[in-house]
Amino acid sequence: MTTSPLAELSAHAASLLARIDEVTTLAELTQQEPHIVGKRSILSALQKSLGGLAPEERKAAGAQLQEVRRRIDEAFAARRGVLEALARAQALEADRLDLGDVVVTQVRVPLAAGHPGIVAATQRQLEDVFVAMGFVVADGPEVESDWYNFEALNIPPAHPARGMWDTFYVDLGEPETVVLRTHTSPTQIHLMERAVLEGALPIHSVMPGRCYRRDTPDARHLAAFHQIEGLVVDRGIAFADLAGVIETFTHAYFGPDISSRLRPAYFPFTEPSAEFEITCTICRGQGCRTCSQTGWIELGGCGMLDPAVLEAVGVDGDEWSGFAFGFGIDRCAQMRHQIADMRALIDNDVRFLRQFS
Ligand code: PHE
Repeated sequence: MTTSPLAELSAHAASLLARIDEVTTLAELTQQEPHIVGKRSILSALQKSLGGLAPEERKAAGAQLQEVRRRIDEAFAARRGVLEALARAQALEADRLDLGDVVVTQVRVPLAAGHPGIVAATQRQLEDVFVAMGFVVADGPEVESDWYNFEALNIPPAHPARGMWDTFYVDLGEPETVVLRTHTSPTQIHLMERAVLEGALPIHSVMPGRCYRRDTPDARHLAAFHQIEGLVVDRGIAFADLAGVIETFTHAYFGPDISSRLRPAYFPFTEPSAEFEITCTICRGQGCRTCSQTGWIELGGCGMLDPAVLEAVGVDGDEWSGFAFGFGIDRCAQMRHQIADMRALIDNDVRFLRQFS
């Protein structure tokens, strides 16, 4: 009697089921498919071998083989179902992480878009230097009456000194009574008036802000620009205190190799008055286009408070004395960053602005 080709069918079935169980990924399952349920499987080989059997035997063996094939197919399909579910779960997990990445990217792009402009950043640095020296930061209006911008500062109507400030007038009230402030000095008047009212002398304040002059913009001037004003009102204040503050500030802000110098000047609201200059940082004093070949750049003016100003705001000049200074914030930014032409500050060219982020 010949051994049936199906003698070991149940052993084959068991080993096929074990192989199916061992498969852990869909890719592996696809790769194994021909060997387990396809043309290369042992079951296909057995199917072919049935051709050598007698018809009766073939029928019985065929049915037996068919049954095993059905069980293997079923187990294979079930395994595929499990592995597909697993793959879907893994894909969902991966998607969730992808989504997280997308959110982070979307947030990052707009945040990178802006930073304080160079003038605003310079103003903050200047405030920091003066706060470290014991000053308080104060604020004042940009639209002023003639009294604050001129008269209280000892510049009466029609005084020739008014020509020092080419003024923009605001079309409000009587002609030429309301101005865009031409300097930050009117804020001195506000501070002293308030301190007198509140009995809050002494004053050690700096007042940064925007000012306007009917000037044609050039390498060193803008029609809308920024100043920082300083005001000290205290007992026994002397010119040496003013010079000391200017020198200390210059070294603190520009570095030890940049010096300051005071040159006699005239302002109606200070006496004596001086112009405050620093070494030109673009040529380091050699002389260049920006400093008109002088080696020095004028930052602003300063001086001892004029008795007429103290009187205008009601400060007792026998008890109190003081000094004031005022200089350009844009000019400081220009000198600190060696910007040859100040108009670059308002051109809004991002290639220029990005350098100061
Ligand atoms: N306000 C003056 C100007 O803008 C500068 C200055 C301020 C001078 C304080 C003296 C004292 O020209």
